[in-house]
Amino acid sequence: MDKYIITGVSGFIGSHFLDCLPNSHVLGIYHQNPPPTRPSDARIYTRHDLTTPLNNKLPIANDSPVVIHCAAYPHINKCEVERNLGRESLAWKGNVVATQNVIDYCKKFKKKLVLLSTECVFSGEKESYTETDKKNPNNWYGYTKSVAEDLVVNSGISDFLIVRGVVAYGQDGVGNNIIQGLVNNLVYKGKTKAVIDQKISFTYIDDITKGILALIKNNSSGIFHIAGSQIATPYELALKMCRRLKIALNKVKPVTMVDFFGSDEAKLRLKNAVLNAQKFLETTGRKTVSLDEGIEKIFLRYP
Ligand SMILES: NC(=O)c1ccc[n+]([C@@H]2O[C@H](COP(=O)([O-])OP(=O)(O)OC[C@H]3O[C@@H](n4cnc5c(N)ncnc54)[C@H](OP(=O)(O)O)[C@@H]3O)[C@@H](O)[C@H]2O)c1
Repeated sequence: MDKYIITGVSGFIGSHFLDCLPNSHVLGIYHQNPPPTRPSDARIYTRHDLTTPLNNKLPIANDSPVVIHCAAYPHINKCEVERNLGRESLAWKGNVVATQNVIDYCKKFKKKLVLLSTECVFSGEKESYTETDKKNPNNWYGYTKSVAEDLVVNSGISDFLIVRGVVAYGQDGVGNNIIQGLVNNLVYKGKTKAVIDQKISFTYIDDITKGILALIKNNSSGIFHIAGSQIATPYELALKMCRRLKIALNKVKPVTMVDFFGSDEAKLRLKNAVLNAQKFLETTGRKTVSLDEGIEKIFLRYP
């Protein structure tokens, strides 16, 4: 039976890993919130603040060969307000210190390390980014994730994966999920605003989770982008949701990034939050779904 250690198991991506590993042994690490599924013989959950070392915390006998590190402090605005705190900021601790602690654990117990990362390591000036493009983050979140990536690359661990995704969406779950935000506004408030001048390769959650598991099974290592195969603006996404929910299209008000976020916060966002997933396709043979296909998958599960 496959065995995995997953950090951030209570978060949006971590909890979806649980959904697609029904028959695997999972040791899940959470911090403030227990995961949405119950522990069992095959699932052990342990509470641990990853900003403190892991070495003696997990059962040493744990023989999972891989740690999937989803835990992070992934909020652009919350990270930014603490930029001037530098290494004392929650973003530095949650993204950099926590990753160093996971690296130390993986080195000590010879585990493969999979780090979840983000398009925010790039500036968004280019139309699309490949794995070899130069990093140049606009925001403190992206900067701390970029430092975490560099720690992994320079850690001496040869068997690592760094997987960058872009704005993950999917059915239910917890944490960040743009679809749920839109549906809540449209259904409960009867209207929403949506941005027209930002392009995003929205990524269906199963492409990230199942894609990472495929990379692990394939013994792949290095940096990979997993991103949706259709680029759209948040406004186009909102219109697609309206059509699917049979809600009048004029319930969505098109706005610019500056109108939506304000001028200071708009500068933190990527104009083109677009990653190229060609290397992932060539390595695994898996083509990520388009936004239209992803939305259909959500409605097929929850008609
Ligand atoms: N969601 C996206 O659209 C997206 C896109 C690209 C990349 N990513 C990357 O994917 C990863 C996961 O994102 P997500 O959306 O799943 O985030 P999320 O829903 O906000 O979940 C974050 C997780 O990290 C845990 N955590 C935070 N601080 C911790 C600490 N000090 N010690 C232990 N655990 C801690 C949280 O635990 P508690 O809840 O228990 O406190 C939670 O389980 C991140 O690295 C992010 O950069 C996400």
